[in-house]
Amino acid sequence: MTEHNTKYFDILSLIEQTERKAAKLILQAHGILAETKSGKRDVVTEYDRRVQELLMEEFRNVMPDAHFYCEEMNEQDRLDAEQLFIIDPIDGTMNFVRGFHHSCISVAYAERGTVRVGAVYNPYVDEMFTAIQGQGAKLNGHPIHVAEVGLSESVVCFGSAPYNPELADETFSLVRAVFDASLDIRREGSAALDLCTVAAGRAGLYFELRVSLWDYAAGALIVDEAGGQCCTIDGNCFPSDGSRTSILSGTPAAMADFFRLREKA
Ligand code: IPD
Repeated sequence: MTEHNTKYFDILSLIEQTERKAAKLILQAHGILAETKSGKRDVVTEYDRRVQELLMEEFRNVMPDAHFYCEEMNEQDRLDAEQLFIIDPIDGTMNFVRGFHHSCISVAYAERGTVRVGAVYNPYVDEMFTAIQGQGAKLNGHPIHVAEVGLSESVVCFGSAPYNPELADETFSLVRAVFDASLDIRREGSAALDLCTVAAGRAGLYFELRVSLWDYAAGALIVDEAGGQCCTIDGNCFPSDGSRTSILSGTPAAMADFFRLREKA
């Protein structure tokens, strides 16, 4: 094993242990009060903040020079930092608030703008999705791979964040077309888990017209390492400045089918 690999295995182990520790806050949460952010359908809770604080503190204890790019933080650190943790403390906050047990903690570790390690943990079903760049993807320590399916044999996940109402018409017309061309569709409420659902071969495709870096940084690495692909809805690379973007992720065949379908629509 090279020195680099050992380093990334150690960082993955740190992230996994810390996510499991922070997940206790989610599982033991009570009296959850939703506070609004950009509007009444964009919510945050004290638990998002507490999970984020715990993660940052534990990472800083081991890696004092690390920088942070987190959902519940006003000033983000530089994306090209030597050591950067990209954190969504609770992805699927509305699910968390409403007791739909489908949320996760998502952490990616990047060096000078390249994501090297990702771990997405769903505490409700004790599923830990992980990847180290070049080392494949795993679910609870077992290798995972995307399904070998095209769109017509795929379940398709999509996102439709209600705080982007201007994207609703385009989203739902795509959903209508995909509904006809696929096996079935799902709107589960966590972009990071949607990506892991693709990586694990449960869904063949996932798309959303606007996501933030913390929603997809870890999940996209996990999909790539599971043999899938991720890009913008137009087939381009994600913006390198971390700005919000559309996302399409899936098996190579399902993505090719999606592009053909979109051309016709
Ligand atoms: C949201 C969820 C949702 C997706 C949104 C995200 P949050 O993250 O992943 O499924 O549609 O784009 O912002 O707010 O629950 O961390």
